[in-house]
Amino acid sequence: MNLRVVPALFALVLSHGIVAQNMLAPTPPMGWNSWNHFAGKVTDADVRATADQMVSTGMRDAGYVYVNIDDTWQGKRDASGVIYANAKFPDMKALSAYVHSKGLKLGLYSSPGEQTCAGYAGSFGHEAQDAQTYAAWGVDFLKYDLCSFGKQMDTERKAHPDAPEAAAKILMVAAYKKMGDALRATGRPILYSLCQYGFDDVWQWGPGVGASIWRTTGDIDDTYQRMDIIGQSQSDLAPFAGPGHWNDPDMLEVGNGGMKTPEYQAHMSLWALLAAPLLAGNDLTKMTDADRSILLNREVIAIDQDPLGKQGKRMYQYGEINVWTRPLSGNRLAVGMFTSDCCSSRNISVDFAKVGFPDGANVRDVWAGRDLGRHSGIFTGTVGQRGVTLLVLSR
Ligand code: GLA
Repeated sequence: MNLRVVPALFALVLSHGIVAQNMLAPTPPMGWNSWNHFAGKVTDADVRATADQMVSTGMRDAGYVYVNIDDTWQGKRDASGVIYANAKFPDMKALSAYVHSKGLKLGLYSSPGEQTCAGYAGSFGHEAQDAQTYAAWGVDFLKYDLCSFGKQMDTERKAHPDAPEAAAKILMVAAYKKMGDALRATGRPILYSLCQYGFDDVWQWGPGVGASIWRTTGDIDDTYQRMDIIGQSQSDLAPFAGPGHWNDPDMLEVGNGGMKTPEYQAHMSLWALLAAPLLAGNDLTKMTDADRSILLNREVIAIDQDPLGKQGKRMYQYGEINVWTRPLSGNRLAVGMFTSDCCSSRNISVDFAKVGFPDGANVRDVWAGRDLGRHSGIFTGTVGQRGVTLLVLSR
């Protein structure tokens, strides 16, 4: 591609974005994704069981509506290039109908490259055809993961030794736009989720290619350290989130067994303060009561889904202490006090005057489910090791 077209391309992408700005996600999308627990083993039966559990546990009614099949569903293409699911998913249309019959939505996964990250068929060269197939199956969500498209980007870098990174970025943005356009051309509302790990300021151009959410980081794993690093790194991205378009710090690990209950509460709290998509990643058929109470905490979900749609920011960091605030509708404010200290609890103080409540506030302790009454001046809470105190302040 001629690099002189760069400004024109971005102007086009942005203006197109305003027209294409969809409202499939007025608040951050909520649902479930197969990858964190099932990875390459996910089957039709797992997805059906998940859909059943989403209804019986109350998750659907709490807002978790997407049931997303991640990598490894893909089979072969036929002679005309039409993609088929593999033997783990004998009838995708029937599976989609089942998921829809439960009042849920179905998500799928592909890549702009020739292969997905797990080595299955990607959409390279078949974008429009794949989008049509997804629409015909009744798919409602597509996660589009960069994976092997790095090969095309490398070729592009070599072809433009004067400006290799700019050339690679243009190619990548065009590839994401191609699928965004293809999805829109189907006429079916399909929420478009970009996954390229936050490279190249995706938050700047994601809405312009039709995306509702975009990953901002590399992969999460089920450890407190990784979750904390990812979550705490997101403050500067707050201006890029808003109704219709959200930063995505990756899926939830709640319930996968690698963290303790207070650590999972910190995870869920931080994701809610970040206005992050809430995509559960655990085996819903084996959910403990503690995990269920975290994923289904209505007050935490309400913070995530607040209609004002403003992402929270870190107010301050001091050693292993982080304090976040998120403006909420009704002139309220969510305050998250975190300590990533491994071995002790800490007293953490917040000056209510400094967070916009000079005359004091009514304080709600969200995880305790208790009103703490009216406080003014300096409020001090005790936060357990690697835990959180999550407050909502109102006037
Ligand atoms: C990448 C993504 C993950 C998951 C896997 C599947 O690593 O970031 O979320 O989709 O690919 O292979």
